[in-house]
Amino acid sequence: MRSVTKDNITDVFMGYLSKDTDPRMREIMGTLVKHLHDFARETNLTHDEWRAGIAFLEGCAAVETEDRHEFVLASDVLGLSSLVDMLHSSPDATSSSVLGPFHVSGAPPLPIGGDMKRNYGGPVLLAEGVIRDTKGNPIAGAELDIWQTAPNGLYASQDEEQDIYSFHGLMTVGSDGRYAFTTVKPVEYTVPSDGPVGDILRACGRHPWRPSHLHYIVKAPGYRTLVTEIFPDDDPYLDEDTVFGVRDDLVMTYVERPASEFPDGMELSGKITEPFLHVNFDVTLAKD
Ligand code: BEZ
Ligand code: FE
Repeated sequence: MRSVTKDNITDVFMGYLSKDTDPRMREIMGTLVKHLHDFARETNLTHDEWRAGIAFLEGCAAVETEDRHEFVLASDVLGLSSLVDMLHSSPDATSSSVLGPFHVSGAPPLPIGGDMKRNYGGPVLLAEGVIRDTKGNPIAGAELDIWQTAPNGLYASQDEEQDIYSFHGLMTVGSDGRYAFTTVKPVEYTVPSDGPVGDILRACGRHPWRPSHLHYIVKAPGYRTLVTEIFPDDDPYLDEDTVFGVRDDLVMTYVERPASEFPDGMELSGKITEPFLHVNFDVTLAKD
């Protein structure tokens, strides 16, 4: 096609795809380019604005390292990561939520009732629950991968003061599906905002804060792996999570209980002298 115009360029693009193009590729590329062209037409995108967009992508590439995933972060703050999650989460299972870039694989085993708080200060949180199937039956042997920030708001992979598996644990539940561990109550923190994504947030008058949360990956053979988070219902950022990760069923009350109610059978049993927080969060997995 030599007579390309601003009105026919999208059709011309489609015409350039070979007839052997994989149908899903055709659908994805065709729809992407249609929206991209419509976006430029609707906004009457200028050269300077187009250049700024390219500079943003180049800026993301420039700061991208093994530990810094600026493109994923861009997807997170644009709501794309959460949208893709929600499009494919099972309606019968616990809601999924963003993985984020700070999960470290290969965490050491954490026994049921184990402690991730170690010597860190801050309120003790006892988190427990049962991992069930959609009929309510416990899933024996399910695996729970847990991670969170230290009280300074940094994940182990961001903080030279922490060992790489600090505030990470891998728990395997027994035949009753029950998990339990203690930790320090997570804090709110900011996503990295010293790169191009931070510039976009500021340009849009947005903040980089996430409400405090615990991250879980829950796995069991024959079930869909669930990546999720738990949020306390009194967090000031619940309604403005910068990465859109909050779902109704993931918001829990952390109940304050006296030290005398701290249960037996935990690593910290008998060592708790102050009131502690308690959250009960059952997880439902859908079949594969
Ligand atoms: C997180 O929760 O760890 C996270 C999620 C998205 C972007 C940055 C951090
Ligand atoms: Fe997080």
